[in-house]
Amino acid sequence: MAQRRAVMTACLHNVGPLGRLNAAMTEPRILVVHSRKGGVGKTTLAYEFAWILQAPLIDLDWEGGGATRSWGYRAEDHQRCPLIDALERGSTPRPMAGRRTKRPDLVPSHPDLELFQPDAETMAAALRSWAGEWGHQWVVVDTHPGATPATSGALQVANVVAVPVPLGVKDLHGTELTVKELVGYPLILVPNKIPPVPAGPMLDMLARAIGDEDVKVAPPIPAAQAVTTRRRRTAMTSEDPVPKALVKVVTALERVARFIEEAAA
Ligand SMILES: Nc1ncnc2c1ncn2[C@@H]1O[C@H](COP(=O)(O)OP(=O)(O)OP(=O)(O)O)[C@@H](O)[C@H]1O
Ligand SMILES: [Mg+2]
Repeated sequence: MAQRRAVMTACLHNVGPLGRLNAAMTEPRILVVHSRKGGVGKTTLAYEFAWILQAPLIDLDWEGGGATRSWGYRAEDHQRCPLIDALERGSTPRPMAGRRTKRPDLVPSHPDLELFQPDAETMAAALRSWAGEWGHQWVVVDTHPGATPATSGALQVANVVAVPVPLGVKDLHGTELTVKELVGYPLILVPNKIPPVPAGPMLDMLARAIGDEDVKVAPPIPAAQAVTTRRRRTAMTSEDPVPKALVKVVTALERVARFIEEAAA
C-alpha cells in the first residue's frame, strides 16, 4: 500500500499543466487500446483514458462507429484526412481541440485510411515522432479490430497495450489468442462490461487465457446500460456531477487509468 501511494505521488508530481511533460518525465508514453475482437469496448475505453490522461487521441479505426464520430467529426464530410496527410508528408498533425468541451483532443480517422493505410514501420515512426512533438505525457491510440499494418505499427511503440476483455466465451477465446500473439508486449487486460457477479467458469477461462505469461489484469469495469445508450459527446469521466447510472463505471475507469499509469511508471 505504501509503495502504491509512493508511485501515485511520483506520478502526480510529474503531471504538468494539461498532462504536459515536465523535466521529471522526458519520454511520452503511448497507450494503445487493442483487441482482435470487435465490440469489446476499445473505443469507449480509449476515449475515456485519453480524457483522464489529458492525452491526444489518435483514431486509427476507419469504420463509422468509432471515436471520430462520437467526438462529433463526420469524416465522410471531409475530403482530406489530416492523419493520412501527415503520414504522407512526414509532418505532425495538429489534434483538434476538445478539452474545453470536455472531449479529448483528437486526430480524427477517415474512411480513406482503409485504402491508404501506412505500413507498420511508417506508423510506428510517425507515432513516436508525433508523441515527442506534442510534448504530452501520454498519447492514446484507438485501433481497428483485428490485425492491421497500422495497428502493428502502433503496437511496436506502445508503452502499454490495453486489451478490453468482456467475460464471454468467444471474447475469452479471442483473448487467449491475443495473449499468445503478443507475448513480450506490455499487455494489460481490462475486464470490461462485467456483471456484478462474474461467472466462475469465465474467470477460470480468463486465468487459462493468461497461463504463465507476464500479463497484468486491471480492475474490472462494470457493465452499465447507460454507457450503451449515452449520446453525449463528452467523456463520461468529465461529468461533474457524475450521473448515478454512470458512477460505478466512471469510478472504475479512473481506477484503471491509475493502474495503467502505475504499470508504465
Ligand atoms: N462497460 C460497458 N458497459 C456497457 N456497455 C459498454 C461498456 N463498454 C462498452 N460498451 C458498449 O459496447 C459497445 C461496443 O463498444 P465500443 O464501440 O467501445 O467497442 P469497440 O471494441 O471499439 O468496437 P469495434 O471493434 O467495433 O471498434 C458500445 O455500444 C458501447 O457503448
Ligand atoms: Mg472501436
